[in-house]
Amino acid sequence: MGYALKIMNRLYTPEKPLTFSGSGAMIKLADLMVRSGARRPLLVTDSFMLKAGMLDKLQVFLKEEGCEVTIYEGIVPNPTFAVVQEGVDAIRNGNCDAVFAVGGGSAIDAAKVMAAASTSKKPLEKLAGILKVDQPLLPFYVVATTSGTGSEVTTVAVVSDTETHKKTFFVDPKYVPIAAAFDTDLLVSLPPAMTAGTGMDALTHAIESYTSLARTPETERDAATAIRLLVEFLPVAYAKPQDVRAREMVALGSFLAGNAFTRTSLGYVHAISHQISAHYNTAHGLANAVLLPRVLRFNKQVCADRFAALEFMLQGNSTSQETHELAQAFIDRVDTLSAVVGIPAHLEDLQQADFDAIAADALKEARTSYAVPKRMRKEDINTILLSVQSGQPL
Ligand SMILES: [Fe+2]
Repeated sequence: MGYALKIMNRLYTPEKPLTFSGSGAMIKLADLMVRSGARRPLLVTDSFMLKAGMLDKLQVFLKEEGCEVTIYEGIVPNPTFAVVQEGVDAIRNGNCDAVFAVGGGSAIDAAKVMAAASTSKKPLEKLAGILKVDQPLLPFYVVATTSGTGSEVTTVAVVSDTETHKKTFFVDPKYVPIAAAFDTDLLVSLPPAMTAGTGMDALTHAIESYTSLARTPETERDAATAIRLLVEFLPVAYAKPQDVRAREMVALGSFLAGNAFTRTSLGYVHAISHQISAHYNTAHGLANAVLLPRVLRFNKQVCADRFAALEFMLQGNSTSQETHELAQAFIDRVDTLSAVVGIPAHLEDLQQADFDAIAADALKEARTSYAVPKRMRKEDINTILLSVQSGQPL
């Protein structure tokens, strides 16, 4: 997929969505949707957010605007084809003319495919893969309530297949929404552990994009800005959940990281963490956060200039340290940040009996999907897995 993704990004440059951020951003986004002509939107969310009243203001606004609203509240973690099909049925039954997703990566990914499948001439399964979207999506808007996946700006949606238990990728520039909102009224509700995990996922996206061989001046700038915002504001958002400035900056950092990595793809942190999550159900952000400093150490020699440039930026461009000292200081900084936001030093669920399978699948994912700066061997991945299991630093 990586090679195809690179070609696709060269041929079909995805658009960046319009963005709204801060208190009330969700209503501004809804206003844009209504002013653009939507009268019968489908709201895609989960039952928890609906019951907690997080969509109340939105529903009142849309009613006052004379909209006929259909709600789909069946979003679950790792949404399945059945969930997407229910959403498509809701769109058809409600004769909906727009899709408005409110949630994290699961809600946004499912809504992307709902918006594509509802206008497509193909059955849902035929949209899986790369560049399979045959019609413009139903006008599609996103309110991101977590700050990590970057799904509000990426060209990818992931849907789980209940029969094969495999994740199916849908990749097309058409999956980028028209506009996205980062509403601090909702973001302040994200619990600290999720703030940490999703924030470290975003930091991983930014670093893996910044060091990717497929980087461009634009992705480099967005990744560096994301790193700057996340390093400064993630600890604040973690320690003070109600700090709206920190919440907004972390959300924007995650957005920029998403914009960078959807063009460059990722690296070994994701290649290994996807396998760990598949084996032990480990949360994506947590698995990434534990792996990140270890993969940075593996890349230290070949990426010394890259890490040093980031550290130079973070120190305010006023240091006399040598390249290798700056590179080490950057890795140490990631270690410290991880500890500050409560990320554990190891994952005790890992079983050595699984290491060969994890390593083989991680090598395959990296080989087929990512433009990494330095190739790993099976032994390198095994060493990293042992370190993750034991908590011993590499
Ligand atoms: Fe990720």
